[in-house]
Amino acid sequence: MAFEVKMPQLGLTMEEGTVAKWLKKEGEHVQKGEVLLEITTDKLTSEIESETDGVLLQIVAQEGDDVPVKGILCYIGTAGESIAQPSGLQQESAQQKQPTVSEEETNLLVIGGGPGGYVAAIRAAQLGANVTLVEKNKLGGTCLNVGCIPTKVLLHTAEALTETKEMEQMGIQVAVNGLDWEKVQAKKAAVTNQLVSGVTGLMKANRIKVVEGTASFADEHTVTVTKKDGNTEQLTFDKAIIASGSVPAIPPIAGVKENADCVDSTGALSFSDIPKTLFVIGGGVIGIELATAYQAFGTKVTIVEAMPKLLPMMDGELTQMLRKKMESKGITILTEAKVQSVEKAAEGTKVYVEINGNVQSFIAEKVLVAVGRRSDTEALQLDRVGIVHEKGKVVVNEYMQTNIPHIYAIGDCLGKVMLAHIASAQGEIAAENAMGECVAYDGKTNPSCVYTNPEFAGVGLTEEQAKQQNIAYHVGKFPLMANGKALIMNGGEGMVKCIIGDTYKEILGVHILGPRATDLIGESALAIGLEATVEDIYATIHAHPTVTEAVREAALAATNRAIHMPNK
Ligand code: NAI
Repeated sequence: MAFEVKMPQLGLTMEEGTVAKWLKKEGEHVQKGEVLLEITTDKLTSEIESETDGVLLQIVAQEGDDVPVKGILCYIGTAGESIAQPSGLQQESAQQKQPTVSEEETNLLVIGGGPGGYVAAIRAAQLGANVTLVEKNKLGGTCLNVGCIPTKVLLHTAEALTETKEMEQMGIQVAVNGLDWEKVQAKKAAVTNQLVSGVTGLMKANRIKVVEGTASFADEHTVTVTKKDGNTEQLTFDKAIIASGSVPAIPPIAGVKENADCVDSTGALSFSDIPKTLFVIGGGVIGIELATAYQAFGTKVTIVEAMPKLLPMMDGELTQMLRKKMESKGITILTEAKVQSVEKAAEGTKVYVEINGNVQSFIAEKVLVAVGRRSDTEALQLDRVGIVHEKGKVVVNEYMQTNIPHIYAIGDCLGKVMLAHIASAQGEIAAENAMGECVAYDGKTNPSCVYTNPEFAGVGLTEEQAKQQNIAYHVGKFPLMANGKALIMNGGEGMVKCIIGDTYKEILGVHILGPRATDLIGESALAIGLEATVEDIYATIHAHPTVTEAVREAALAATNRAIHMPNK
């Protein structure tokens, strides 16, 4: 088979290169190590050498062409050899293309109305599809109804309560008379309802038909929708996008299932009263955020995490700072500790935890089980049509295509990174590909955000990941104690940390613990997307006084030229 010469990835963040000049012609013999062509990126010019001996059979990318990383530049082989088809978006076979509609209009079905599904539906409608969206519960999915949005209402209330209690330090004299839990719940419902009705309006504005019910595949072009009253309806489609989301995973811990005081994140958003004690199983994002909210509401919180550190995907050094802060507020945190069983007791629920080989028991009024989520694909009957999945997690290629080329899948149901913004990004890509474009998903600008106090956000590689991948890097750090705005806002708690590649000085990762970190991280995501270098960050003027100045100072610190703190 002919050898494919592909566009190399010359820096971690490089996405494409431009063919500057071919030094060999089609038909010419080339030797391993000989320079074939020159390519440029916005950073550098590089020579691409042949990795094999042979004849240059075909030049695919001409001078001036922009070629994505791994895109084919040319083929080398033996004279007269035929060339295999390039890989890419799978095409539908004539037999698969049997459906139902006129040539001009694509019938596109979206299964699930969360931030993945409703965004996919809108994008497909913008591109001219006739879109039907099936939702078994409420539009807005987990995010709007029982996830991101209601949690953030509780966290915002918690932050306001904490700030109000601390106003004395600023000379403001207010008395806090407690928390009206019913009003908090009403505010949460009002925000959620407003956003859900906003999505309903967007469906109408984009002429998307919403069908209430549970979809399951009948064949490759038909789903059966079962309504709440038991009636069924058949819907046919040319293209489909599965966006069925996820549900909380229930761990096989003895006593959890049958105990009404053991709740998942949905239950923990709507306790009838604020619990006096809360035991949290799982030190991931859900556990940490809800622990933060309830601690501020006056609950005594204990978190148990099986791994050596909380928030396994976040930067270790800043996670440790956050842990200390949470502990200083009175939250008990146990790591490398595993819950073995729970049982009902007179005073609440008894939780047995194995720590360093010993079993300790804890008593709590409520237990939050937050050990992850699993794909919600059971009802879809994926096997009936042969959609490939791994224990319910739908398998897709970078174009969000399943093994059946006209059926796409996005978001939590893939069982990978379960975040609303990833689902939405993948939804737009799936819709565009279903409507004839060819767009690949790339998660490198995906920010991770944890809504603690202070907030915690990161994008790109953590220091641990850079080490694991053997990437030569250096670090720039800036403590928020030296940032005027942060000092005013939260007493200067937190830090900005930049991870910079040694070779190209590109931004590999940025991690922020500090006030509004989840908003600040946008600049760094853009920087990584644009393959910015550390110089690009500090050459940009950052407004004063803002916390963003600390991002620039961390970039300066990475090159030993920080202004507002001593350098190494
Ligand atoms: P997670 O996967 O983030 O964390 C679960 C944690 O539980 C892990 O650290 C795991 O080691 C630990 N664990 C598992 N079994 C345990 C046991 N028996 N005893 C003690 N610890 C145990 O899952 P989480 O927090 O439930 O969140 C689910 C999904 O929702 C995640 O994908 C998360 O990214 C997403 N989410 C994102 C938010 C955000 O972006 N701000 C907010 C809330 C959820």
